[in-house]
Amino acid sequence: MTLIDKLKQRRSYREFETESLDIQLLIDAIEAAKYAPNGANKQPWTFCIVKDPKIKKEIRLESEKIETQFYKKITPDWKADLSHLDVNTSKPFLEEAPYLIVIFKHIFQYDEDNHQTKVYYPDISVGIATGMLISVLTDIGLDILTYTPSPNQFLSDILKRPGNEKPYLILVVGKGSKSYKLPKITKRSNEDVIKIY
Ligand SMILES: Cc1cc2nc3c(=O)[nH]c(=O)nc-3n(C[C@H](O)[C@H](O)[C@H](O)COP(=O)(O)O)c2cc1C
Repeated sequence: MTLIDKLKQRRSYREFETESLDIQLLIDAIEAAKYAPNGANKQPWTFCIVKDPKIKKEIRLESEKIETQFYKKITPDWKADLSHLDVNTSKPFLEEAPYLIVIFKHIFQYDEDNHQTKVYYPDISVGIATGMLISVLTDIGLDILTYTPSPNQFLSDILKRPGNEKPYLILVVGKGSKSYKLPKITKRSNEDVIKIY
C-alpha cells in the first residue's frame, strides 16, 4: 500500500489492544516529526512518551474527572455533533494502549543564559509536527487517537513539565482493537474541499 492509501484508511480508535510495542518505533516516528517546518526554527515542542502504567492510570483518572465536568458544560449542539462517535466520560483506552504521547507546545523558551526567548506560530508549528507524526505512525501500521481533554493543565502537573510548556494534545498509540466498531462517517468530496485557481 502507498502512503496515500494508508492515510485514506486511517481512522481514530477508541479501544486498543493491550499488547506491548517496541518503544523505538515511537522514538523513530518522533524523530521524523522533529523535522517539521516551524516558526523561525524554534522547534517549540516536547513529546513525552508515557509507558508507565501508574502514570497512565493517573492521566485516565484525571481525564475522566474533567470529562464529567465537560459533558455538563457543553452546548446541546456540541453534544449532538459528538453523538455519532459514541463517546462518553469513560476513557479506558488511556490505560489499555501501550503508549500515550503527550505533546507540549512551548509558549516561550530559554537561552543558554536562562533568559526568556520568543517563539513564533507555536500552534501552527506543533500542529504540523503532530500531523507528520500521525502520518509516520500510520505508515508503520500503528493506530492512534487524538485525545483532547479540556482543561488540560493536569498533564503539566502529572508529568512535571516546566511553565513554558503548555499541553497540546494526547496521542494514544497502539494497535486498534479488532472488536472496536468504527463510527460510520463520510469525508467531504474533492470538489467541495479542493478549489483550483
Ligand atoms: C483536534 C482534535 C481533537 C480531538 N479530540 C478528540 C477527543 O477528545 N476524543 C475523541 O474521542 N476523539 C477526538 N478526536 C478525533 C475525532 O473525533 C476524529 O478525528 C473525527 O471524528 C474523524 O474521525 P476519524 O479520525 O476516524 O477519521 C479529535 C480530533 C482532533 C483533530
